[in-house]
Amino acid sequence: MTAQRHPDLRVIDCDLVVIGGGGAGLRAALAATVADPSLDIVLVSKVVPMRSHTVAAEGGAAAVLREDDSFEQHFEDTVSGGEWLCDQAAVEAFVAACPRELAQLERWGCPWSRRDDGRVQTRFFGGMRVQRTWFAADRTGFHMLHTLFQTSLRYPAIRRHDEFFCTNLLVDEHGLAGVLGIDIATGHPVLYRARAAVLATGGAGRVYAHNTNAGIVTGEGMALAARHGVALRDMEFVQWHPTALPGSGILITEGCRGEGGVLLNAEGRRYLEDYGLGPLEPWPRPRAMELGPRDRLSQAFWHEDRAGRTITTAQGNAVLLDLRHLGPRRLAERLPMISEVARRFLGIDPVTAPIPVRPAVHYTMGGVATDLDGSTTLPGLYAAGECASAGIHGANRLGSNSLAELLVFGRAAGEAAAVRARSAPRPGEALAAEARACMAPWYAMLEAAPAAERPRVATLRNAMHAAMEDGVGIYRDAEGMARACEALAGLRAAYRDGVALDDRSLAFNTEWLSAIELGHSLQLAEVMAHAALARRESRGAHQRLDAWRARDDAGFLVHSLAWCAADGPPRIEHAPVKLTRSVPRERVYGGAGERVALD
Ligand code: FUM
Repeated sequence: MTAQRHPDLRVIDCDLVVIGGGGAGLRAALAATVADPSLDIVLVSKVVPMRSHTVAAEGGAAAVLREDDSFEQHFEDTVSGGEWLCDQAAVEAFVAACPRELAQLERWGCPWSRRDDGRVQTRFFGGMRVQRTWFAADRTGFHMLHTLFQTSLRYPAIRRHDEFFCTNLLVDEHGLAGVLGIDIATGHPVLYRARAAVLATGGAGRVYAHNTNAGIVTGEGMALAARHGVALRDMEFVQWHPTALPGSGILITEGCRGEGGVLLNAEGRRYLEDYGLGPLEPWPRPRAMELGPRDRLSQAFWHEDRAGRTITTAQGNAVLLDLRHLGPRRLAERLPMISEVARRFLGIDPVTAPIPVRPAVHYTMGGVATDLDGSTTLPGLYAAGECASAGIHGANRLGSNSLAELLVFGRAAGEAAAVRARSAPRPGEALAAEARACMAPWYAMLEAAPAAERPRVATLRNAMHAAMEDGVGIYRDAEGMARACEALAGLRAAYRDGVALDDRSLAFNTEWLSAIELGHSLQLAEVMAHAALARRESRGAHQRLDAWRARDDAGFLVHSLAWCAADGPPRIEHAPVKLTRSVPRERVYGGAGERVALD
């Protein structure tokens, strides 16, 4: 082993580490520095913040704004949309905080789209009974992220470490004591010694083959927390977005349907009326149909496909999203990016032709179990955004709740972490030795002699994708989920025995980093498969085709909690859902001329 192979550890002392430079991480860092300007905060991100996955969010962020809306309605839409698996106190706090957060972004410069009279414009989104989704054309994530990023530049107390890859959390008798990472440019290890850390690392959609997520969405934060005994909650609930491009998985925003776009099957019919989602009143008072919730729309696609009523494309079967009736002006004003994507990627002009779309994995509705202030069971460790589960999404997240969520809970986590960072004792010198020991396996992975029998990263990743798509899809059954669990256990063992790396250099070694990411993803895939198998009912995005096709409130109005073992399958337990005022009932959308039947 050469000196170059084992570069020395750089130790950085700070008060707070924020892991992830997307919306939740930036909001947390801003909240922490505003709460206590004396704190030394390091924002560690594996990509330059403007490349974080928040940038890909399109359609908008939810918050009560209009006169015909109320916190009560936002609460009810969210809780019923999540099929009563939401923690209702968390939803109450969330809906009340959303308007303040979106207005704060306005003050920081976010260019929300406007009505003619200058007020902020809103659009319909799935499962929401009124127009509640604030947007910036169809580039909402880009504008929100840009606003947060440029605001963060005004605070020198936030030191950015872009392109640093976190590999381990370090813990001592007081709780979190540090974060270990790799400087991607040099391959050198860095220890951030701090008493508080906020995980804001996004979801784990890349455990599936067909998804809308950036390649970076591999589930780091969840895996890091789970390795320290923090429970992962409700991981069986994976969201399929009903409208992505076949093949590439590029998101075609729900905003298209919010603006009036319709879905047609191969027969040219608005097939959603066959799935309890319509018919409905004419525009502009849509109640469901294309504005039904994502779980129901993705499930409807599955049935249409099985019935042979989808169209065939070179990239897989699809239905058609028809926007032609919106006209060129509205498309240019409200959906410019979608129009460009259709033209560039498909050669289709949505002004004159419909866009083929199909469901793709979009969002991890479970995550690191947190309290309302982002705190976890590990003192000093906080989590916010998609990597966290504050309990607001339940069995099915409503579109546009997540951009609001990363602000609301990013801020809460940043403020709580600031208090902890100020008050907890500083980590000791001994941490550096532990950090060196933790780095050893990562360098060993890089230095291992190539062996013909070792699998490549891509081989294991493809096998993980196949297991998840096959066994833990839109519809599941015991046999398929058990098959996935078994396949994933085999992949875990193969990974433990070592992967073959061609690139053995230190600088920008993305193959090495992909291998580390794969370990995280495999762990999370196993959690998803086991949590799904243990939920013997159908609810929201978890739909079974076997003996457990019905919702079972008596047995399963519970969260799943997964605890990960060092080497073995996760342990799944269940814990009660906290209800306050919304009593579980049948979840009904659409119906002739009726409101979405939520009240
Ligand atoms: O369709 C979309 O624009 C996605 C929004 C979301 O996931 O919240």
